Amino acid sequence: MAFPNTRMRRLRTTPTMRRLVRETTVTVDDLVYPMFICPGENVRTAIPSLRDCFHISPDRIATDTAEVASLGIPAALLFGLPRHKDARGSDAWAADSSVAQAIRAIKKATPELLVITDVCLCAYTDHGHCGVIRNGRIDNDASCGLLAQMAVAHARAGADIVAPSDMMDGRIGVLRRALDDEGFTEVAILSYAAKYASAFYGPFRDAAHSAPGAGDRKGYQMDPAASRQAIREIELDIDEGADIVMVKPALNYLDIIHAARSRFEVPIAAYHVSGEYMMLHAAADAGYLDRDAATMETLTSIKRAGADIILTYSAKTAARILRP
Ligand code: PBG
Repeated sequence: MAFPNTRMRRLRTTPTMRRLVRETTVTVDDLVYPMFICPGENVRTAIPSLRDCFHISPDRIATDTAEVASLGIPAALLFGLPRHKDARGSDAWAADSSVAQAIRAIKKATPELLVITDVCLCAYTDHGHCGVIRNGRIDNDASCGLLAQMAVAHARAGADIVAPSDMMDGRIGVLRRALDDEGFTEVAILSYAAKYASAFYGPFRDAAHSAPGAGDRKGYQMDPAASRQAIREIELDIDEGADIVMVKPALNYLDIIHAARSRFEVPIAAYHVSGEYMMLHAAADAGYLDRDAATMETLTSIKRAGADIILTYSAKTAARILRP
């Protein structure tokens, strides 16, 4: 039936009509808020490269996470800055690392807020790579062992979910076995399964002080032009024990999110990364975009593509818009 019997605009006449036929709804339940934990005491300093985000020391984190919880956001994702950097990134698995201290403080103050920890060595190594280097190359298998130690240290401090973001082969299986061996069978793994070597991580690397000193991450993160590899990466991670799989970044990879959603039954997460977030802010600052409207449209597009979970620096803004 064509025009005039069919008029698509009938279903767009009023806000209520549009609400009735809407297919995608972003809710606060979908959101995860990333946060940066730094060493020291009484620190809460704005991160220049990442609008409205802060470096927060463990003794002050519980106030901020209480706000996250009170907004109804189910989970915080913690990134850590080390007390010192070395070749192996040893502060990453220290029992009293900033992240471990922060987890304990958060779990004491707001036990219901899920704590997800980023598991990766790049902020902790003096060379800034996500694994350890041997003979000038990233040693995959040795890196997996260190990442497993880091995951266990976070589990011991009380993390609910560990999120390896390093892209070493086989690390999900190594982490799962290490967690189980230590009795942490209930700690879940959110795998950064399809993580691309993206230019959009720039602001984050300033925030986490994690830019590689030499070279790039193209030997472990995925080539932006590859899509079938993403399916294999996700499949392997699920086989190795990932409970949730992530596609990262989100916006330039909506096709990958959609493909993952249509092939796999596990929850799919997408990371709306630092560069994507700061593009919105820069355009809004310049007067080109309405920040709130563009933020919600962006999150809706990620959900519509098939993401169940969205990790975003806009989580608090979105929560306030969704629950005024
Ligand atoms: C660590 C890590 C990165 C991000 C999350 N975990 C940076 C990178 O891989 O270089 C990026 C997050 C963002 O840009 O918001 N490996």
